[in-house]
Amino acid sequence: MKYNIGLLRGDGIGPEIVDSAVRVLEAVGKKYGHEFVFTPYDIGGVAIDKYGIPLPEATVEGCLASDSVLLGAVGGPKWDTLPGHLRPEKALLGIRAAMGLFTNLRPAKLYPALAGECPLREDIVSEGFDIMIVRELTGGIYFGERGVREGKYGEEAYDTECYSRMEIERIARVAFEAARLRGKKLTSIDKANVLESSRLWRKVVHEMALEYPDVECTDMLVDNAAMQLVRNPRQFDVIVTSNMFGDILSDEASQITGSIGMLPSASLGDTTRGLYEPIHGSAPDIAGQNKANPIATILSAAMMLLYSFGLTEESDAIVSAVDKVLNMGLRTADLAHGKPALTTVEMTDKIIENL
Ligand code: IPM
Ligand code: MN
Repeated sequence: MKYNIGLLRGDGIGPEIVDSAVRVLEAVGKKYGHEFVFTPYDIGGVAIDKYGIPLPEATVEGCLASDSVLLGAVGGPKWDTLPGHLRPEKALLGIRAAMGLFTNLRPAKLYPALAGECPLREDIVSEGFDIMIVRELTGGIYFGERGVREGKYGEEAYDTECYSRMEIERIARVAFEAARLRGKKLTSIDKANVLESSRLWRKVVHEMALEYPDVECTDMLVDNAAMQLVRNPRQFDVIVTSNMFGDILSDEASQITGSIGMLPSASLGDTTRGLYEPIHGSAPDIAGQNKANPIATILSAAMMLLYSFGLTEESDAIVSAVDKVLNMGLRTADLAHGKPALTTVEMTDKIIENL
């Protein structure tokens, strides 16, 4: 089979880690007889430098014409002082919206080989954990009405959280279905003791739970959830939550897996065309130094094979190659604690060798 993959390398370490994932995909293609055709498009700071805008129309069109899209990271200090609508981050929100990607899957699991990296007490994580965060991605406060105005005390700014029944239903359905295929436990996280939007969220999730009697569904307030994630992460199977709560909780979850450099993500909508990216950022401090951990992006490519192309065996091959190199004790600098570390390219080579 032939698959057209759009590449959004972006800024900072983006190009290095995307190139690593491309090499891994090419190796997989060779081994299993698939052809992956890659087409790069500009996004983020690089696009600002070239065209004055973070998300050129050609990039949107290119992504919509691809079978799936792989993204590195966007942003950096160079573009930090631009107004909101011209910031690199705006491109990320723009491409998610343009592609209709309302679901963001962020798996957070503790690799046995990295258990020592987890900052939690050993008795808490001795049996590991495996959480799937289902984050709503095209609604809520990220896309709500916002502005600056003159208020009672002078200049003020506001952002609004708004969720429709339709938006809650479609993300909850993804989460219920995911729970059904995993541990059959769903935790819906909200702030229903304060927010009206959360009260609707909770009501809709409860209604849908009736359709999924085989899934044990519970609610949790987001402040409590932040605490429970570090108190007892094993209690979670699938989590479903809003755009902003999901953003925050997934960073917290990543940290207890040892390194944010390990966590992939998949953004999906109503079609098989997705956007796959590591959950970490562009790490400008180590950009261009061949130091970045490519694993999150490589695992994102594995998620693409699974969710967009249905290539289960090929996807598993990548995941187990990553497992193998970690079990061999191989580490990039983020996990090496000052000991000799593999470069981005060397880590990628090792993963390819173990496919
Ligand atoms: C993420 C990032 C983005 C988000 C930023 C860069 C807009 O933090 O993907 O988690 O908040 O969604
Ligand atoms: Mn984030």
